[in-house]
Amino acid sequence: MTTTDTRTPRARDTADAARALFAERFGIEPVGTWSAPGRVNLIGEHTDYNDGFVLPFAIQHRTHVALAPRTDGLFRVRVASTFDDATAEVELDELDALFPDRRDEVPEWARYPLGVAWALLAASDTDPSTVTGVDLAFASNVPIGAGLSSSAAIEGATAVALAETWGVVPLDRVALAKVGRRAENEAVGAPTGIMDQMASLLGRADAAIFLDCRSLEAQVIDLGFADAGLELVVIDTGVKHSHATGGYGERRAACERGAAALGVPALRDVTPDDLPRLAELVDDVTFRRVRHVVTENQRVLDTVRTLREQGPAAIGDLLVASHASMRDDFEISVPELDTAVEAALSAGAVGARMTGGGFGGAAIALVSHDRVQAVTDAATAAFAAAGFAAPTIFTVSPSAGAARD
Ligand code: GLA
Repeated sequence: MTTTDTRTPRARDTADAARALFAERFGIEPVGTWSAPGRVNLIGEHTDYNDGFVLPFAIQHRTHVALAPRTDGLFRVRVASTFDDATAEVELDELDALFPDRRDEVPEWARYPLGVAWALLAASDTDPSTVTGVDLAFASNVPIGAGLSSSAAIEGATAVALAETWGVVPLDRVALAKVGRRAENEAVGAPTGIMDQMASLLGRADAAIFLDCRSLEAQVIDLGFADAGLELVVIDTGVKHSHATGGYGERRAACERGAAALGVPALRDVTPDDLPRLAELVDDVTFRRVRHVVTENQRVLDTVRTLREQGPAAIGDLLVASHASMRDDFEISVPELDTAVEAALSAGAVGARMTGGGFGGAAIALVSHDRVQAVTDAATAAFAAAGFAAPTIFTVSPSAGAARD
């Protein structure tokens, strides 16, 4: 059995699927489709909500949304998707009552697009009574629950589609990313940072986004994987996770405890020199959580410098150190992720680490072109030997951010 899927997802097919679903559910043709990508985070994990640094890139997998304004004058939004049989329908002026307190009344997946509609209206200077009702239909080829930000892809696609349709102010990408984060935090209830939305909205082909999560200043960093003969391999463990429950929020709380103990606004303000003092102030678990964030911030800065000075083949050790820190200090890895990383390294990967929030999802491996099959085979064999379900393995390439198709 082969578990390798190196096909580039066919964007046109997915956009067509969104269009076809739209026609089927709503009985008319959409006016257009918009799309936004998922992301891989190259390095900088759990640093975003600590005002720190991240280095994600958008991938070629995208969520497409077909849209048409309603012509019947009704102030209503309907959302349909290929991943749910039901169409959700809400009056636009009911959104304020639904989010966040009554979100349970909204089907789980629909909280993402409806949350964006709500947060977009709230953030804009536009008089809500001047916008039209809309119908939206979604199709996606971003793997769900794989840690590749399928949720940010829905948010990004919805945000650009609605912002253009409604002509809302502000329209800039950072503002739309904040809208997406608010939907995720308050409409979905996941206490996540802003990395995924920024990557999905700002992505560029062949480049990563170096983001300062305090100033939200973003720099485009050339990756040059192809010129260096490198591929970025994703090993999706199939272990599902949710950031709306449990571990993610606990990690965030530990970071806030650490910052409070040191009397700083966020862990961004803590340097390795502060760690001995922190050890006197907090328990061992909190100490290790903070140490992960502090060292991870430094690794992001080191990765950016190494990419610029030496190219991507030189960042392997930083990726490996990042994984070790998440496994041992932040404790968000799972055996499947550790197995994927170890197998990739043993088969000659330049570097490997888990990517995203953890507790499941995917690992990434930076691999020279001629070792991709060996890494694929090694990970597949290691999973079988450990009695884990077979992983899904494919390559990703840094791709453009959200746009009208
Ligand atoms: C998830 C969140 C992000 C970020 C990562 C961990 O992907 O959505 O905001 O915190 O986890 O780096």
